[in-house]
Amino acid sequence: MRRFDKRIESQLVAEKSRGVLESPAPSNGTHGGSSDAVMDSRALIPPLGLREYWYPALPAKKVGKCPLFWVMLGDELVFFRDRQGQVVALTDVCPHRGASLSEGACFYRGYLTCPYHAATFDESGKCVAMLTEGPDSKMVGRLKARVYPTQQVRDWIFVWMGEGDPVPIEEDVPEEFFDPDVVVVCNYMYWATNWMMATENHGDAHNQLFVHRNAVSALLTAHPGRSRTPYGPETKTIGDQALLMLRDEGDYYATEKNGTAPYQLYYPGVDGVWPLHRWRLLWAWFFKRLMKPNPLKTSEEWGYGHHMPCIQRTATSFSGTNSLWAVAVRPNLSRIVQFHAVRPPNRAVYFWEMLSWKLFRAWMSYNFVSGDNAAIAPCRWWTPENLSSTDSHLVKLRSFVLTHSRDALRRQAQKGGNGQAGRTAKAGGTEAMATAGSIES
Ligand code: FES
Ligand SMILES: [Fe+2]
Repeated sequence: MRRFDKRIESQLVAEKSRGVLESPAPSNGTHGGSSDAVMDSRALIPPLGLREYWYPALPAKKVGKCPLFWVMLGDELVFFRDRQGQVVALTDVCPHRGASLSEGACFYRGYLTCPYHAATFDESGKCVAMLTEGPDSKMVGRLKARVYPTQQVRDWIFVWMGEGDPVPIEEDVPEEFFDPDVVVVCNYMYWATNWMMATENHGDAHNQLFVHRNAVSALLTAHPGRSRTPYGPETKTIGDQALLMLRDEGDYYATEKNGTAPYQLYYPGVDGVWPLHRWRLLWAWFFKRLMKPNPLKTSEEWGYGHHMPCIQRTATSFSGTNSLWAVAVRPNLSRIVQFHAVRPPNRAVYFWEMLSWKLFRAWMSYNFVSGDNAAIAPCRWWTPENLSSTDSHLVKLRSFVLTHSRDALRRQAQKGGNGQAGRTAKAGGTEAMATAGSIES
């Protein structure tokens, strides 16, 4: 086939409908959708994520001497370092005339200069000089860019994306991150899907048997995933923060003989068994012992399951505990940030944890979870669903997000006439702050 035709065809495939269908008309910040829009709770979930939370943005070491462009929850940000070397985040949109601040430069240590008319901002977003207008510029002290509060935890920069005052970061970041005896390592990747679809997938352990069957860790352990069962997991809500996944009917197909389900199950509709073959069991016995989960002991709130806003907590195939964030980037793109935490009992285990993570475990975990990306990226969010009982967790998750998130509580409080709205809106007007910035008079 000619190269031209090939290009068109791959473009058509790339543009295939998937993920969230953007609303043709401005909506109220929810999925809205077209005339075929979803008529269930999905329509109410914001396609660019919940705002009133701390989110992991990027590793601190990525921010050097030059400004760095980054997208979070659809907002375009620029990161640079202040005079003390701390990472700060401003909107990338220059409040003067909209130039991209990340295209600018840090001529003076701790200050960011716009590439257009050289407005120069400090870490509070205040214009401290307008190089093209001279020292008497009236913009100095009056022009202001929106600041996104940042904090460094371990070697990651977290950003407060809310319009209200930031909550203590300990509310949104797993407790073990603050324990000096725990080692936390991290990797991240992009999935071509919406944050909520990614979040739902992280809690959807029933895809393990199928989606990850050829991942290296699954090949080694012949792990059939969550025990097969036609029932969904039990769940438990912990305040407004967590929706835990409790045990499911793991022994549903267990035989009376040994109390466990057979590796292969027979499906009369196709007159065949799944998994198709048993050869993976050849070495599984050995690797299953090597890759025994040994999760951290946690408080109930930070147990296994969903934690607001988009964190899934799981035990890993090796030792330790995973926290997987699905951070919205664009409506159809998510940054999947995975932290792996382990408490090494001694220095030898510590070095093994660090070395094995660098040598092969980070790759193995990437290899495992990228199967989800391949499976869910083409999923449509707006088509009608026919849910099974094993999807019960996502019905609860959607309802939890819609009723218990800070964003939802804030809206409820506003409707109830409470000006405090859960968290106090910043002075100066959140509308202006939410876009590019403002000129203070
Ligand atoms: S657009 Fe940035 S200084 Fe003019
Ligand atoms: Fe999966």
